[in-house]
Amino acid sequence: MSKNTQYVSRQSDENGVIHWSDEENAVWRDLVARQLEIIEGRACDQFMHGLELLDLPADRIPQLAEVNEVLERETGWQVAEVPALINFDEFFRLLANKRFPVATFIRTREEFDYLQEPDIFHEIFGHCPLLTNPAFAHFTHTYGKLGYAASKQDRVYLARLYWFTVEFGLLRQNGDLRIYGGGILSSPGETIYALESDKPERHKMDPVEALRTPYRIDIMQPVYYVLENLDALFEISDMDIMALVEQARSLGLHEPKFPPKEKMAS
Ligand SMILES: [Fe+2]
Repeated sequence: MSKNTQYVSRQSDENGVIHWSDEENAVWRDLVARQLEIIEGRACDQFMHGLELLDLPADRIPQLAEVNEVLERETGWQVAEVPALINFDEFFRLLANKRFPVATFIRTREEFDYLQEPDIFHEIFGHCPLLTNPAFAHFTHTYGKLGYAASKQDRVYLARLYWFTVEFGLLRQNGDLRIYGGGILSSPGETIYALESDKPERHKMDPVEALRTPYRIDIMQPVYYVLENLDALFEISDMDIMALVEQARSLGLHEPKFPPKEKMAS
């Protein structure tokens, strides 16, 4: 979450309806059309199944109530309308209550390919399909409860686990590499790079290792962690994650596999 944003979220009216402009709906339409083509055969089956369940409109931004109907029925989750930026307390409080924050703005055409801030396309297209999956839903809920109770210092560790699972997670499916992380699946460039480039390292998921791995939000990831299968998220949820945070802290962080931000000027 960055500190500054040029975006202002749209607010729903008294009936919970958000009135999007034609251009905003057209941006959604074009983002969805492009991404559906790219994720075919790359997203994990559970993500594709979740997309079918959600049955997102192709030509307009969905209303949150439409998404809620499906999430509530499948896993008891809801999406929650939030301003463009919220603090960590609020973020964890929402997840701890099975409410997934959705900033109700959509990127402009100028930022069509890449946007650091999570917009409604990222949140709904990228994350909501898997919120219909019990293992993913349970893990995200567990994470929210732990994060809400955690200290500021521990939250920094937890954020890395979230990053390498919910946002940038890969998994094995019938021996093949597939994507389940919403940060990847809402980015056309990274959807291809994450699976097909020989640049990134891909390690078997080990929560302690993920907790020790620094990341940057504004580059293609140099490291991914690969789950044996999506149900492994149930096993991670059952671990004493805060004890793993302690373990990660005493082992220390890994060297970043990326240059520091200041030196990235190009
Ligand atoms: Fe996200």
